[in-house]
Amino acid sequence: MIAKPQASGRAKTQAAHSPQASSPKPQAAGLRPLRCPMTDLFRHPPRLPLIAPSILSADFGRMAEECAAVMDAGGDLLHLDVMDGHFVPNLTMGPDMCAAVRRHLPEVFIDVHLMVTDPALFIEPFVRAGANHLTFHVEAVDGAAARELALRIRNDGATAGLAINPPTDVQQVLSLIEHFDLVLVMSVNPGYSGQSFIAPMLDKVRAIAPRLRADQRLEMDGGIGPREAGECLAAGCDVIAAASSIFKTSDYRAAMAALRTAAPSRSTD
Ligand code: DX5
Ligand code: ZN
Repeated sequence: MIAKPQASGRAKTQAAHSPQASSPKPQAAGLRPLRCPMTDLFRHPPRLPLIAPSILSADFGRMAEECAAVMDAGGDLLHLDVMDGHFVPNLTMGPDMCAAVRRHLPEVFIDVHLMVTDPALFIEPFVRAGANHLTFHVEAVDGAAARELALRIRNDGATAGLAINPPTDVQQVLSLIEHFDLVLVMSVNPGYSGQSFIAPMLDKVRAIAPRLRADQRLEMDGGIGPREAGECLAAGCDVIAAASSIFKTSDYRAAMAALRTAAPSRSTD
């Protein structure tokens, strides 16, 4: 059992990044040596929508600088895409990257998206590395295992998310929603950034959104620029994960402002 963070998650993002914000104290024991006071960001967000820059499209050679820049420019949290070369045909980052981000940005909220075949193997390593939230895929586990993993994640002091791939029937997540803090709808087939948005995935959002409690979030991930963000928000999403439409621009602040304030540009019915 990992000690839960004690500080309130309602602190504003800006305040959490101010120089006055106190650094978390290392613990003598336990899995969370660096505690983040924003563990409740998804349950009690200070504002919506939340913009989650995916560092998959950041410059890996300047990762700490990129993370700081995107948070200073208005990002609400960092989205870390973890791929195991098996669940998806790509290898990206592991707990060491998460720990490095945590060391450089002690107060940032870290949203880990596990695109892995065996998520149970990675919960403890990522929580130990400072993750605040872990999302795993419904395609990787059966229903009973999904409930058990959600419980483990929460017992470890993080929040839990369930992701669904484009080919998977939305019914597979509907019966499990109550056990999770967040549902992540993939709008590309996972594996790479820079792919095109699959618009019919908005129907999943419309099916899931009415079933969520006020303390649960609905995240969309993949191929999202301002136009797609407008459609996601109109359909019921409140967290937008985006890599290339932020990191492949020269103005992170403008890119995220465009996502946050996007208005629906066309009917998707
Ligand atoms: C895809 C990842 C996404 C990806 C998004 O497998 O889960 O988070 O980084 O990249 P863009 O926004 O470029 O589609
Ligand atoms: Zn992702």
